[in-house]
Amino acid sequence: MMKFETKSIHSGQQSDPLTGAVMTPIYQTSTYQQDAVGQHRGFEYSRTGNPTRSVLENCLADLEGSEFGLAFSSGMAAIDTLIRILEPGDHVLVGNDVYGGTYRLFESEYRRFNIDFSYVNTTEIDQVVSSLKPNTKQVWLETPTNPLLNISDIEVLSEVVHDYAPGISVVVDNTFATPYLQQPLAMGADVVVHSTTKYLGGHSDIVGGAIVSKNRAIHERLSFLQNAAGAIPGPMDCFLVLRGIKTLPVRMDRHAENAAKVTDFLHTHPRVTKVFYPFHSSHPQSKLAQRQMRNGGGMVSFVLMGGEEGAKQVAESTKIFKLAESLGGVESLIEVPAIMTHASTADSPLAVDPGLVRLSVGLEHIDDLIADLEQSLATE
Ligand SMILES: Cc1ncc(COP(=O)(O)O)c(C=O)c1O
Repeated sequence: MMKFETKSIHSGQQSDPLTGAVMTPIYQTSTYQQDAVGQHRGFEYSRTGNPTRSVLENCLADLEGSEFGLAFSSGMAAIDTLIRILEPGDHVLVGNDVYGGTYRLFESEYRRFNIDFSYVNTTEIDQVVSSLKPNTKQVWLETPTNPLLNISDIEVLSEVVHDYAPGISVVVDNTFATPYLQQPLAMGADVVVHSTTKYLGGHSDIVGGAIVSKNRAIHERLSFLQNAAGAIPGPMDCFLVLRGIKTLPVRMDRHAENAAKVTDFLHTHPRVTKVFYPFHSSHPQSKLAQRQMRNGGGMVSFVLMGGEEGAKQVAESTKIFKLAESLGGVESLIEVPAIMTHASTADSPLAVDPGLVRLSVGLEHIDDLIADLEQSLATE
């Protein structure tokens, strides 16, 4: 079997049979001429299917170790589609520090359709087992989580959930890890969801999402909804994600190398009280992370003295780390989750520490990144 580095460049892709173009063409078309009434060449209308999108979907499926991939217009559109395959009265068990937008969608929208959500600490196997119910249909794991970088044991959780009821889908949001670092389907999960906006795209130039599932029946239901509801990405965005994926392994290795050094620096800084990085020995699940992931990834969070004011001051005084939401691009970003990405969890059990700062460590030279953090932590 081909290695990941080779697959990330070639999976699902071949030179264009018409011209020999090495890169996948951007089929910027909404419709396709038919040879006779009802006789088409595999594509009828671009909501239903587009050749550039098909290549991306096959590439993503292959990278996650399945045949069934679907691309969406955002990570949230992918998550929304996965919830819409449920019936009123179904129960979903969700990790208690998932991305704020996921929590907002579940609570503000789907609860009123009588889908029941409960939130547990998925790093504790016993808590997950004791919270399963006869009507549980999905268990949602984010690992590492956004923004606290908690790690849940995909293999053990998949086993205990399937022992309880084989029909429950274990869903893993693999956005932070990417398939290069972590292969949830091989560890027993049923479905992987992505915001391709982040590391897969890798250049902060598109918003996109994806679902890869193991089970044909689930895939067909999701595929029906993708066409019926239409939250599809355009061909240009699909091309950009395909291009981003080609350098995913090289980028992820450098992101992790830089993030590990930033973590070491933060640990030595007197203003910093806590640092979260999955591969650091101080992380409560560092051993599990090292078993489950190829490296620690590019995200680092930390708490510093001075609470919200301290966090705001640091986030507003870095120069290379840009103050912005999102993550996973080549450039370093800094943000304050309680006020920015996770504002929708305020006053909820999922609320994050107002003094928490989140870094998406980019690919700039490590000396420049550390100097930037040093000067921002020095200004009070
Ligand atoms: C872990 C995670 N899942 C899903 C999403 C949602 O993706 P999108 O912003 O592409 O809709 C995000 C966005 O930040 C995220 O961090």
